[in-house]
Amino acid sequence: MKKELIELKVNGRRHEVAIEPSKLLLDTLREDLGLTGSKRGCDDSSCGACTIQVDGVPMLSCTMVAASYQCDNGGNEITTVEGVAEHGALAAIQKAYGDWGGSQCGYCTPGFMMTVRALLERNPEPSDEEIRHSLSGNLCRCTGYTQMYQAIKAAIQAEQKGMAAGK
Ligand code: FES
Ligand code: FES
Repeated sequence: MKKELIELKVNGRRHEVAIEPSKLLLDTLREDLGLTGSKRGCDDSSCGACTIQVDGVPMLSCTMVAASYQCDNGGNEITTVEGVAEHGALAAIQKAYGDWGGSQCGYCTPGFMMTVRALLERNPEPSDEEIRHSLSGNLCRCTGYTQMYQAIKAAIQAEQKGMAAGK
């Protein structure tokens, strides 16, 4: 199939890629941009391992046609797990996942990170119920989820401490 040139803005950088018009965003990120953090965990939009953010909203990149998310002046800013670190340092949620064992095999972790990041951007102090609800579209086969909740709560506390300290 004939390829077409599209432009995507990912993690703050613009990229031109020549791809088939129907190519999915998940495959474009992984195969054309080398951003392999986002994972394919299912064939039926049920696992959340491919979650990314577009303009802050968590979305399943396995269901998105890349050409429909070309950057324009109004938006379509794509963030993947590779863009979560802040100025080269681990973000609070990344550090907390490490500290609390929120990740075991790690396959689901990038998707969870993006979902949690979107939640905390939208609502810096979510209730337990809001945290559970937000994670309902992400599946993990390893952790049992408890460590993830602990990590998310620790990240919220770390962010609050940082804000109180003026960081
Ligand atoms: S790969 Fe499972 S929801 Fe996208
Ligand atoms: S840590 Fe293995 S699937 Fe979640």
